[in-house]
Amino acid sequence: MSNDAALPKTVLITGASAGIGKALAHVFAQNNFDVVLVARREDKLKQVETDIKHKYGQMAYCLPEDLADPAAPQRIYDWCQQNHIQVDALVNNAGYALHDDFLQATWQSHLDFMQVLNISVVHLCHLFAPAMKERGYGRIINLASVAAWSPQLKGNLYGAAKSFILDFSQAIDLELQPYGVNCTALCPGFTFSEFHDVMGTRGSVSKLPRFLWMTAEEVAQEGFDAVMEGKPVHVNGRVNQGLSQVMAMLPSSVKYYISKQQKVM
Ligand SMILES: NC(=O)c1ccc[n+]([C@@H]2O[C@H](COP(=O)([O-])OP(=O)(O)OC[C@H]3O[C@@H](n4cnc5c(N)ncnc54)[C@H](OP(=O)(O)O)[C@@H]3O)[C@@H](O)[C@H]2O)c1
Repeated sequence: MSNDAALPKTVLITGASAGIGKALAHVFAQNNFDVVLVARREDKLKQVETDIKHKYGQMAYCLPEDLADPAAPQRIYDWCQQNHIQVDALVNNAGYALHDDFLQATWQSHLDFMQVLNISVVHLCHLFAPAMKERGYGRIINLASVAAWSPQLKGNLYGAAKSFILDFSQAIDLELQPYGVNCTALCPGFTFSEFHDVMGTRGSVSKLPRFLWMTAEEVAQEGFDAVMEGKPVHVNGRVNQGLSQVMAMLPSSVKYYISKQQKVM
């Protein structure tokens, strides 16, 4: 078993083609990690790969995969095994939100959503954590959100998916932390990225005040520091920390009432 911080290390990051995942790839590489970059858009991944090699001199590998495919996590694990890549840190970051009402969206789109946001996260942890435990070193970041505490949006699965990640991440941290493997549920609020363009809510959220927003780079740096410090949960930024503490104290009935007053963004 080794937990020598000086040994070369590798991080695997899903959703590394844009936003918070791309920023996390830069932060890990700056801290001497080689990076395995996973997402669907190969051209974007290649650009991140090139930037990381040039800027930090670390190894970078692109692995184009669609995490909506239930077979993708096993393929990712097998690729690492075949290429003798030891994954010391895992960042489950890929994600998006559906904007449709629950009944408007097709069943396939709900299945894909839960596969990407929840099942692939659990599957990748289940595949990569045993060797981390065996070696006595591992760092896992799972992207949750302040939405894990927020009042729900009508018919939207996003809050439920992120609550799951918040609970699951703490559960595996409790199991693995005695073996040198930390898992952090990272909980950003509004973050500048492609997220709201993909969701189709850019017009409405761009009216929100600037103090509610953070950059992807700020979120990524805090996430890296949090997992290295062994924090099981980290809410990004003072504003989101305050909001999430208030929301956590609200009774469910009050949150439900707030949800009823909300217009979907
Ligand atoms: N931005 C926010 O306000 C905010 C707030 C709280 C939490 N978060 C969470 O933070 C994480 C990152 O979001 P972001 O803001 O950085 O959004 P983003 O800029 O839209 O990036 C999302 C990433 O996920 C990848 N992705 C989406 N679907 C995928 C799939 N089926 N297979 C593989 N990769 C997929 C995208 O790559 P490809 O399109 O190339 O596949 C992209 O790299 C998400 O889990 C999100 O829920 C975001």
